[in-house]
Amino acid sequence: MPLLPIIKLPDPVLRQVSTPVETYDGDLKRLVANMFETMYEAPGIGLAAIQVNVPKRLLVLDVADEDEGKQPLVLINPKIVDLGSEMKVYEEGCLSLPDVRLDIERPASLTVSYLDLDGKPQELTTGGLLATAIQHEIDHLDGKLIIDFLTRLKRDMIVRRFKKQARVM
Ligand code: NI
Repeated sequence: MPLLPIIKLPDPVLRQVSTPVETYDGDLKRLVANMFETMYEAPGIGLAAIQVNVPKRLLVLDVADEDEGKQPLVLINPKIVDLGSEMKVYEEGCLSLPDVRLDIERPASLTVSYLDLDGKPQELTTGGLLATAIQHEIDHLDGKLIIDFLTRLKRDMIVRRFKKQARVM
C-alpha cells in the first residue's frame, strides 16, 4: 500500500473545513488503510484525512504504546457530544508541523459519537492521551491547528519559519 504525502504548514489546504463522509465503499477502506500506514510510518498517533489532501471528516488514531500492540481506531464524521470539566495539559506535536511541540490545555475527558468503517453509529467515552488526540484531530477537520492556541505574535513567528523553509526546499 502506498504511503501518502503529508501536507505541511504553510499549505492553505490545512485551513479547509472538511465535509462529511457519505459513501462507505472500497475506496474509503483503501484510504483508511493507507492513512494508517502513513501514520505508523511517520510515526504519529493520529492523522486526519485533510492532512493527506482529502477534505473529508475522517480520522485515524492509535495511541497505544509499542508493547501494547496496535490499537487502531477509525472515526468517521466524529462529533464531540460531551466534554469533561477537568482540564489537562499535554505537549502536542502534529505531523503537519514538524519539530513544533506545544503545551496545550484541553478537557481531560470526552464522549464522541462517530460512524465506523461500515457506516454504523458508535459512541466512545475516554480520557488521557486518546481524549487529547481526538480533540486535536477533530480540530483538523475544522481547519484548526495547534498554533491557533498561541498568541498571534507567536503563531506568526512559526508560520514565517515554515514559509521560509518551504522556499528553500
Ligand atoms: Ni495534527
